[in-house]
Amino acid sequence: MKTSAIPSRLLRFAATALAIVAVAHTAGAAPDERSPYVANGCYQCHGYAGQGGAGARLARTAYSFEAFAALVRRPANEMPAYAPQVLDDGELRSIYDFLRSLPEPPRVSLR
Ligand code: HEC
Repeated sequence: MKTSAIPSRLLRFAATALAIVAVAHTAGAAPDERSPYVANGCYQCHGYAGQGGAGARLARTAYSFEAFAALVRRPANEMPAYAPQVLDDGELRSIYDFLRSLPEPPRVSLR
């Protein structure tokens, strides 16, 4: 196979697109309306920044993706279950990545 099979313009375009996705991904800003976290209503009980509320605190979750997914598919108690037909693994993964990307809460001193 010739090395010039992929035009360099296409490679440059792909590199730029990847860089944009990487920047958007690591920004860790508040989710916008298109975020699966918002679109699936997680924020209603867990807060926009995963800080908790009616539901548990989710920001920077220490769970592995598998454990996190199990808790969303088969919640412990009052949380509605999210079946894969409603929320597929890809969306669940982006919710997980979003929650893991959130900044540390500020340190609070009690004295
Ligand atoms: C109607 C309120 C509600 C909504 C909507 C909701 N949750 Fe929950 N969630 C809860 C409650 C309450 C708990 C505590 C366990 C229980 O009662 O089932 C919980 C627990 C969890 C836990 C386990 C946390 C822990 O530390 O044990 C995870 C993970 C979680 N939710 C993720 C999500 C995700 C992701 C979404 C959106 C796809 C979501 N939740 C939507 C109410 C909600």
